[in-house]
Amino acid sequence: MAQFFQLISCISLLFLLLLVPSNSENPKAPPFGFLKPLEGCKKGENLEGLRELKQYLNKFGYLNYNSSKAHDNDDFDDFLEAAMKAYQANYNLNVTGTLDSETLSKMVTPRCGVPDIINGTNSMTRNKKRHRHNNSPKKLHTVSHYTFFQGSPRWPADKTSLTYWFNPRTIQTDAMPAFVRAFDKWASITQYFTFAQTEDYESSDLKISFERGDHGDGSSFDGRGGVLAHAFRPTNGNLHCDADELWSIGALQDYTDLETVALHEIGHLLGLDHSSVEDAIMFPTIRSGVTKDLHDDDIQGIKALYNI
Ligand SMILES: *[C@@H]1O[C@H](CO)[C@@H](O)[C@H](O)[C@H]1NC(C)=O
Ligand SMILES: *[C@@H]1O[C@H](CO)[C@@H](O)[C@H](O)[C@H]1NC(C)=O
Ligand SMILES: *[C@@H]1O[C@H](CO)[C@@H](O)[C@H](O)[C@H]1NC(C)=O
Ligand SMILES: [Zn+2]
Ligand SMILES: [Zn+2]
Repeated sequence: MAQFFQLISCISLLFLLLLVPSNSENPKAPPFGFLKPLEGCKKGENLEGLRELKQYLNKFGYLNYNSSKAHDNDDFDDFLEAAMKAYQANYNLNVTGTLDSETLSKMVTPRCGVPDIINGTNSMTRNKKRHRHNNSPKKLHTVSHYTFFQGSPRWPADKTSLTYWFNPRTIQTDAMPAFVRAFDKWASITQYFTFAQTEDYESSDLKISFERGDHGDGSSFDGRGGVLAHAFRPTNGNLHCDADELWSIGALQDYTDLETVALHEIGHLLGLDHSSVEDAIMFPTIRSGVTKDLHDDDIQGIKALYNI
């Protein structure tokens, strides 16, 4: 039995080694590491590092900088408090407006780079709906769930067969099966889309690439941890993973499961935006060492978007 597990761990280790980028940057402070010393901070305080909290909230859409100078300070002002509250509402936290420990632990979790609020539209609460219980028609409750991008962009009705391929400059062949499985899962639950490999990156509908740092689309990656990946709304087709992450095939402590992230980013490619259902694949944060699968919320979302 022990030998069996040894064998299994040797096999996983092999995968891991192959997936670690060969010219990875030296490990430095984790991208969201600045948050920890700020724990407990609240309105009215001035604390070194608060400007970075503002940059974080700005990056994910919670603060709309009118001019970059105006908020380049360490003051916990009304705007920052409002942004904190919006974040807490989206992540099902107590809306305190302070950086309490629950909020901190959510904020430091690695996540998708697609902002939660785009152009002032809070995707995660926009579709909060009042649902009527079938069995008690008078009882209403509020649930937040799957969302679409503003304007509900989607693939046209004659485009249900999508092709995909990997950037030949950046792909590690060991990463491919994770994407194949993720595409298979989306195809199987939609019974609408099919995904075929083209082996021609330029002509593919969906283009998968591993990038690091500033890679020319205005949304830089940030080294190990922090932002893991991002993808664009239909019909753009681009999906980028941060080449500096520690990717794994399957759940492994301190590593990020590539298939889980692939499932999330393919959701964006097809038109789903972030969900505030914690177990949904479209929830923005993805912890290391765990795997996630498509959830009923994701399935309902894609079916609603394409009327299937
Ligand atoms: C930006 O400007 C708008 C309109 O003047 C104002 O309502 C908003 O509060 C400002 N936001 C910030 C963060 O200063
Ligand atoms: C919200 O606050 C209550 C009461 O202080 C606490 O018991 C609960 O754990 C908090 N929940 C979250 C998600 O922080
Ligand atoms: C945001 O709004 C601007 C101006 O209305 C528009 O040009 C841009 O396409 C919008 N961006 C997104 C991502 O919706
Ligand atoms: Zn995302
Ligand atoms: Zn990118």
